[in-house]
Amino acid sequence: MKIWMFSWLVIFFILIGLSLPGCSSPAPAESPAQGSPASIAPPPQHAPVYSSAAATADQPAIGTEGNLKLPEAKLKGEVSLEEALAARRSIRQYSTAPLSLSDVSQLLWAAQGITDSSGKRTAPSAMATYPLEIHLVAGNVEGLAAGVYLYVPSGHELKKIKDGDFRKEISRMPAAQNGAIDIVITGNLDKFARFGENGIRFICLEAGHAAQNICLQATALNLGTVTTAGFSEEQVKTVLGITGNKTVLYIMPVGKKT
Ligand SMILES: Cc1cc2nc3c(=O)[nH]c(=O)nc-3n(C[C@H](O)[C@H](O)[C@H](O)COP(=O)(O)O)c2cc1C
Repeated sequence: MKIWMFSWLVIFFILIGLSLPGCSSPAPAESPAQGSPASIAPPPQHAPVYSSAAATADQPAIGTEGNLKLPEAKLKGEVSLEEALAARRSIRQYSTAPLSLSDVSQLLWAAQGITDSSGKRTAPSAMATYPLEIHLVAGNVEGLAAGVYLYVPSGHELKKIKDGDFRKEISRMPAAQNGAIDIVITGNLDKFARFGENGIRFICLEAGHAAQNICLQATALNLGTVTTAGFSEEQVKTVLGITGNKTVLYIMPVGKKT
């Protein structure tokens, strides 16, 4: 056989070989069955999608537009999800001890924190619309002045609405008055207008997701909380300075256990 014929034959077989399945690139790993433990993606390595530079566990930093930047939320705790589910109870009495700023940061992150670069959050939302707003009525928090704040998920920040301790005015319920903080979940109905008559149902479902996240996070931090819905919506709106087509869904006091 002539040398040039031999060379062409070698090239031909190399090309055939590359086109065979499994030769050009490694075979993809077989995907595990849906729902099996192996199909659960590992938790992301601690790579928050916001920067919490300079905020410490007990001191906020200055964030965007004068907001207060909260310390970074932790992705590991000492209590398993199963333990938190088993231990969760409505707690309505609290000690007078203050909450730490990192506790507050963790609770707000659990409610509506952003968890990936597309802006998706800890709680699910119909068509990723995110109609919920989380207000913080802070009364007794180390490193944070008493006041009403709005949680800003982008940047993991607090926007101050007003100074002062409004725990006694937010609700007549003793639990809401005695927690170190009240977390108030409200919903922007305009954002759900496109869902028509389903809008109000969807928004209530979303509040449930966020509230359960707060319950489990509080339990994991050994804090007490309760979901309360017995309040005057008008009174809460006045305290929070809320206007527009919004609805108040839950007040959740949080405090250290007695
Ligand atoms: C929609 C809803 C509204 C609630 N409203 C109040 C309330 O206004 N005041 C209160 O003390 N507890 C309130 N709760 C808490 C329930 O009383 C409590 O979940 C129930 O007694 C079961 O106890 P557990 O949460 O410890 O399991 C509410 C719970 C839900 C789900």
